[in-house]
Amino acid sequence: MKMRLFSRENRRSLTTISQKTIFFRRKLAGITVLLSALCIISACNSNEKKYIIGVSQCSEDSWRSKLQDELIMATYFNEGVELRFTSAHDDRKLQEQQIESLVNSGIDLLIVSPIQEDNLTETISKAYAKNIPVILYDRKTNNEQYTTFMGADNYLIGEMLGQYLAGKLHGKGNVVEIGGLKGSSPAMERHNGFMNAIKQYPDIQIIAYQSGDWTEASGEVAMRRILREYDQKIDAVYGGNDRMAVGARRVLLENGYNDGSIIYLGVDALPTENGGIRKVAESILDASAIYPTQGDELLQLALDILNNKSVPKEILMKSSLVTKENAKVLLLQHEELARQYNNLRKMHSQSGTMQEYIKSQQAVIGIIMLMFLIIAVFLGLYIRGYQAKHKLNGILKEKNKQLEESQLQLETINTQLSLVNEQLMEEKEVAERQRDELEEQRDKIIEISLTQKNGDLDSSEDDIISGNEKQFRHENEFFKKFIASVNDHIADSELSVEDIGNEMYLSRVQLYRKVKALTGKSPMEIIREERLRRGYQLLSDSSLSISEIAYRVGFSSPSYFTKCFKDMFGKSPTDVQKI
Ligand code: FRU
Repeated sequence: MKMRLFSRENRRSLTTISQKTIFFRRKLAGITVLLSALCIISACNSNEKKYIIGVSQCSEDSWRSKLQDELIMATYFNEGVELRFTSAHDDRKLQEQQIESLVNSGIDLLIVSPIQEDNLTETISKAYAKNIPVILYDRKTNNEQYTTFMGADNYLIGEMLGQYLAGKLHGKGNVVEIGGLKGSSPAMERHNGFMNAIKQYPDIQIIAYQSGDWTEASGEVAMRRILREYDQKIDAVYGGNDRMAVGARRVLLENGYNDGSIIYLGVDALPTENGGIRKVAESILDASAIYPTQGDELLQLALDILNNKSVPKEILMKSSLVTKENAKVLLLQHEELARQYNNLRKMHSQSGTMQEYIKSQQAVIGIIMLMFLIIAVFLGLYIRGYQAKHKLNGILKEKNKQLEESQLQLETINTQLSLVNEQLMEEKEVAERQRDELEEQRDKIIEISLTQKNGDLDSSEDDIISGNEKQFRHENEFFKKFIASVNDHIADSELSVEDIGNEMYLSRVQLYRKVKALTGKSPMEIIREERLRRGYQLLSDSSLSISEIAYRVGFSSPSYFTKCFKDMFGKSPTDVQKI
C-alpha cells in the first residue's frame, strides 16, 4: 500500500510542486538580485563621471588661471565632466610627459596649448591615434592631427594694434617690439599682423625686435638688451602681451625715459588685479587687445566633440581694443561679472551640500526600498511555500484515507479467508475421519471372515493374560513413540498421519487402527489435541502472542487455533494467557 501511496503519478505531482516551488524561488531570488543590482547601480550612477577631459597648459599665469576658473565654472552646468589639469611651466619635455600620462590615465579628450609650434607633434599624434579627440587651444602646432583649433585671431590682433599705433603716431615714429616666445604661433601671428598694418606707413620704423617668453621679467630682459644695442629715440613699445610691455616700460623708466612720451601696447587685456585693462585704466599701458579665454565655450566645444557633433576645424574668438576710453567701463562690467561669478560659486557650493544631502537621503531610501523588497520576496516565498505545503497535506490526507480504506478491505478479506480456511480444515478432518472409519470397518469385515475361515483358536488363559500384558506394554511404548513423533513435528502444519506412520514403519491404516484401539480417537484428533495442549502450555509459560503460538504448534490459522482451543478446553486462549 505504501507503494501505492507514493505511486509514480503521485511522486510526479509532488516533484512538480517542489520543482515549481524551486523554480519560483529561483525566479524571485533572481529578481531580488536584479533589483538590488539596479538600486546599487542607480546609487553609484549619481557619482559616475561621464567624461574625463585632460587640459595640458604650457605655462602658469593669470591668463591661464582665468581660463581654468571658467572651465571649472562650466562644469557646474555640465555634471558628469571631470577635468584633469597639468601645467608644463614652459618645459617642452615636461609637457610631453604630462600629456602621455593624461592619455594613459584614460582621458576622453585632450585640450592642449603647446609651448611652441614645432613641439608635441608626436605626442599629439599618439593621443589622436588612440581616438582621443584633441583641441588645440590658443596656440597651434605644425601637426595636422588634431580635431579642432580654438583661439583668438592673433594676426588680426596684431593688425588692430598696428593700425591703432599708426593713428596714435600720425604715421611716423620709432617702434620697439618685444615679441612673444620664439616659435610660438601667437608670437609669430601677432608680429605678422602688426607688420602688415604698419607697412602702409613708411615713416613708422621697427627699430628693434627682441623675443621674450611671455613673462614680465622677460620683457625687462629684452628691453635692457635693446637699450644696450640701440640709442635711437623710442616712440612706441609693442609688447607681445601686456606683461612683457609692462616689464619693458619699467626698464625704460629706470633708464630715464619720460613717462607719457612713449606709447605702450600689449595683448591680453585681463580684467584681473594686475591685468591689462587695469593697466590701461591706470595709463600704464595705452592700449591692449582683449585675448579672450571663453572657458565655458571651450568646455561646450569639448562636449560637442565627445557627443559626436560636427565642429569646424578652426574656431576663432573675437578680440577688441581696450583704450583709456573704454577701460573703466570694461572694469565695471568685469566687477559686475565677478560678483555674478561669486554668486554662482556660492550657489554651486550650496547645491553641492544639497546634493550631498540628497545623495545621503537617496541612499537611505535605497536601503529602505531594498529592505522592503527583500521582505516582500521572502513573504512571497513564504506564501508560496505555505500554499505548496497545504496542497501536499491535502494529497497526503487523501492518500491516507485511501490507505485506511484498503486496509479495512484487506482485513475483511483476511477474515473471510480465515473462515473459509477453518471450514476447509473442518471439512478435511471430517473427510479424513470418515475415510478412517470406513477403512476400520473394512478391516473388521476382513478380520471376521478370516476368523471364520481358521476355525477355533487354541490358546491357554495364561497365554492370553501374559500376551495381553505384553501387548499392553508394547502398545504403551508405541503410543509414547507416536506422541514423541508428533511433538517432533508439532510446528509443521502439513504434518500428516502418513508422515508419522513412515517414521514408525507403519502404514497409515495400521497407525490409525492402533491409535483408535488405544485411545478411541483417530490419529488426527490426537495430533490436534497434542498441538492444543502444547499451545496451552506456551500460553501459560511464554510471553508469545496467540498468533505466534498458533503457528508454533502447527496451526496455519490463528482463528482456527482459537476455535479448536475453545472446543477442547472450554475457554479461549486469551483467558489462559491472562492467568
Ligand atoms: C599666457 C600667455 C598670454 C598670451 C598667450 C599666448 O600664457 O602668455 O599672455 O597672450 O599666452 O599664447
